[in-house]
Amino acid sequence: MKKLLVLLMLLWHNIYASNYGELLFNGNCITCHFKTEKNSAPSIAEIKKNYINAFPKEESFIKYMSLWVLKPNTNTSIMQHSIDEFELMPELGYEKYTLEEIAKYIYRTDFSKQPR
Ligand code: HEC
Repeated sequence: MKKLLVLLMLLWHNIYASNYGELLFNGNCITCHFKTEKNSAPSIAEIKKNYINAFPKEESFIKYMSLWVLKPNTNTSIMQHSIDEFELMPELGYEKYTLEEIAKYIYRTDFSKQPR
């Protein structure tokens, strides 16, 4: 019984957390990063492609992306060509934890099949 409860709680947390990341992304990133189309910034599908190439493992993907978004920096960018095209992304002032949830959502979502 106790084990079942723990399992249910873990499951609930996973579902809750993944929706949370999606909500955060749609509230805070999508104005500049459309899913598949270039806007005032590269699409999130494009960013994900570059990040997956550089950081195939989920843990390092989340770590690098959340730290970069916390403090965007030309020297640590893995998309120099985007900075040349759009200028450096502005600092948004979110908590690291929030950015980790968003990065996790990005890692786990296939944007390439979504419209715009
Ligand atoms: C005001 C517009 C704007 C918002 C809002 C914004 N971005 Fe960006 N972002 C940009 C631009 C422009 C670039 C391309 C230039 C660059 O890489 O700095 C970029 C690049 C990036 C990159 C590539 C980093 C690299 O290595 O160069 C990541 C990752 C990223 N954004 C994540 C996010 C996330 C996550 C959010 C939401 C929390 C977000 N962005 C919100 C404008 C924005």
